[in-house]
This record gives sequence, structure tokens and C-alpha cells, in this order.
Amino acid sequence: MIRGLVLLLALHGAALAQEGRAVFENHCASCHAVDRDAPEQAGPNLAGVIGRRIGGDPAFGYSPALDQAGKQAGAVWDRDRLLRFLADPEEMFPGTWMGANFLADAADRAAVADYLQSAR
Ligand code: HEC
Repeated sequence: MIRGLVLLLALHGAALAQEGRAVFENHCASCHAVDRDAPEQAGPNLAGVIGRRIGGDPAFGYSPALDQAGKQAGAVWDRDRLLRFLADPEEMFPGTWMGANFLADAADRAAVADYLQSAR
């Protein structure tokens, strides 16, 4: 019973990450790569972004807004911060260059967060 439940939860997690990949392809991949070796794009590389410093892709030139945010103590992406950012980037970091690219749907945001968590 417990084992079945654990399996179910694991499958559920995998399904969510799969769903997140689709959302990512549709809404994010035009500007972001999750493959560490991908060529530079219009947005920073997101491989391992959860746990990484805000504004932490050394190959990307960030807006002053994200640059400043990343200099604060403890400015590291975690799941909650990512969900907040994706809901309204401009509200979190006024002046960010990602302002218009929010995700209106909470389920989409959760799925993308799962996907990015698994994309290390
Ligand atoms: C039209 C291009 C574009 C799209 C589409 C886009 N982004 Fe971005 N994203 C950017 C840019 C540009 C930045 C850098 C913002 C800045 O410097 O202010 C950024 C920054 C970010 C960051 C901060 C990364 C860091 O290193 O601190 C995350 C996380 C992020 N985007 C996730 C996403 C996700 C998830 C999606 C899809 C829902 C998405 N973005 C869609 C262009 C885009």
C-alpha cells in the first residue's frame, strides 16, 4: 500500500516534469536553453537554475535589475522564488527584461518549476 503510494507519487512527479517540458518548449525555449552546452540565446541558460544565484549565468549580460538582485545576500533561486517570478517578473524585479513573459496559469508554473528542478 505504502509502496504503491510512493510509486504513484514518483510517477506523478515524472508526469509533471514531462508536462513541464511541454510548457517550457511552448513558452520559454525560444529564449532559454536548459542544456549546459547550448549556444547563447536571448535569455540566460537555465541548466541548474534552481539553487543558482539570481543573475548567475556568467555568459549572459543581465539587466541592471537582475544584476542588482543577484548581489543581495542569499539571492539564490529556489522553487518559491521561481514560481513568484514566473507569475509576475516585473513585480518581483522592476525593470527586468523578462517582464512580458509570465505564465498566467499556476499549474503551468508548477510544471515548469518541476521541469527546471529536474534539468540540472
Ligand atoms: C522573449 C524571451 C524570453 C522568454 C520567452 C522567456 N524568458 Fe526568461 N528571461 C529572458 C531574459 C532576457 C532574461 C534576463 C532578464 C534580465 O536580465 O532582466 C530572463 C531571465 C529568466 C530567469 C532568471 C535567470 C537567472 O539566471 O537569474 C528565469 C528563471 C527565467 N527567465 C525563466 C523563464 C521561463 C521558465 C520562461 C517560460 C515560462 C521564460 N523565462 C521565458 C527572456 C525570456
